[in-house]
Amino acid sequence: MSAPWVEIKNLFRHEGREVVVKGWMYNKRSSGKIHFLQLRDGSGFIQAVMAKSDIPEETFLEAKGLWLEASVEVTGIVRKDERAPSGYELTVTDLKVIHNPEHEYPIGKKEHGIDFLLDNRHLWLRSQRQRAIMKVRDQVIWAAREYLHNEGFLLTDSPILTGSIGEGASGLFEVPYFDEGKAYLAQTGQLYAEATAAAFGKVYTFGPTFRAEKSKTRRHLTEFWMLEPEVAFYDHEDNMRLQENLVSAIVKNVLEHCGRELKDLERDTSVLERVEPPFYRITYDDAVKMLQGLGSPIEYGTDFGGDDETILTRQFDKPVFVECYPKKVKAFYMKQHPEREDLVLCDDLLAPEGYGEIIGGSQREDDLDLLFSRIREEGLPEESYDWYLDLRRYGTFIHSGFGLGIERLVSWICGLHHIREAIPFPRTIYRLNP
Ligand code: 4AD
Ligand code: MG
Repeated sequence: MSAPWVEIKNLFRHEGREVVVKGWMYNKRSSGKIHFLQLRDGSGFIQAVMAKSDIPEETFLEAKGLWLEASVEVTGIVRKDERAPSGYELTVTDLKVIHNPEHEYPIGKKEHGIDFLLDNRHLWLRSQRQRAIMKVRDQVIWAAREYLHNEGFLLTDSPILTGSIGEGASGLFEVPYFDEGKAYLAQTGQLYAEATAAAFGKVYTFGPTFRAEKSKTRRHLTEFWMLEPEVAFYDHEDNMRLQENLVSAIVKNVLEHCGRELKDLERDTSVLERVEPPFYRITYDDAVKMLQGLGSPIEYGTDFGGDDETILTRQFDKPVFVECYPKKVKAFYMKQHPEREDLVLCDDLLAPEGYGEIIGGSQREDDLDLLFSRIREEGLPEESYDWYLDLRRYGTFIHSGFGLGIERLVSWICGLHHIREAIPFPRTIYRLNP
């Protein structure tokens, strides 16, 4: 019987037996009589030890001539080894080279500049660090969907090509659209989630969203993934409770399943371990006073800049909600504050350690006339909101929801310096390739 093909992460189940590993050689050390081949297959990393005395001469020579990132099939016996990071090692009995590159691998051991790495993103993804980040991203998405599914939410996907502007007229990507004129790439799935909330109660959308903002910060992408729950009969308070429960569940799940990856990323997990409801709450009014007290030049009535969020979140050891912003800095659909006409019932959830906004949410304006006048004030094309206003014409209802930016959350959980590492192929204003 020939040896079975086993994924590296499952090798521990095959101790003492001969197996086949299929993958790439990401590093190699050699002494005259032994090659140490570092292998990866996507599921994990393992060292394969090839002794000259154990295999035919030509196989040993072939291994010597391997370039980094050669694809290989290695047959070997699984051995326990306390010193190995995975706890196991492979004693090689055979090697089949699938492809030995003709050139040296572009990403070497030396420090590379970020532009070089981004130009080679398709290769950079093979590194241990990038694998750890992508694994956390996968777990974040899995955990979010699991939580919402268990809470009875229905996933109702929203269109990417849209006729109504979701957030604001600035920052739209336009696409020519047959006889209809132009379409926009969705900035949000929210308006559609409001319609499906009226149909199904608790819903969420999850997909790519687009912002043509010329923001060159470490928090902005032009294409990012947003998870947007929307709930019928939830008010502003219910909405914030859902947010803190969801974020806590995601962080807990990642801590449980991605310990190894967080370690690879050298993440200090003590902050993450504190993430439990209730989160801190502060009103916009108080946040402005706090910022001014800390020396920020912010003026009352304006939105926070990235620096303000950084300063603010450093004052808290857990995520903090900033509630009730001035109407004029927020989107048209937010519900007017019952006691303060100049404010809206909204919240931004800011992650600690300087990370800043990871969620934007609000109770929605359910009054037909108020909503219509806000659409007018913002100069939005009224005809494309007729369907949206129907939600207020036929059984209007208190409802609330929010958008969680997946890359912002992954950046914080992984402790990344820049959001561009939180998505496989980042899109920023300067980058469309690879
Ligand atoms: O605050 P935003 O703009 O809210 C909305 O789009 C609402 N329609 C959501 C809703 O209520 N259903 O965006 C929500 C979140 C932000 O908190 C942030 O995490 C992320 O989306 N986000 C971005 N992430 C990366 N790059 C950008 N340019 C982002 N803009 C927003
Ligand atoms: Mg926002």
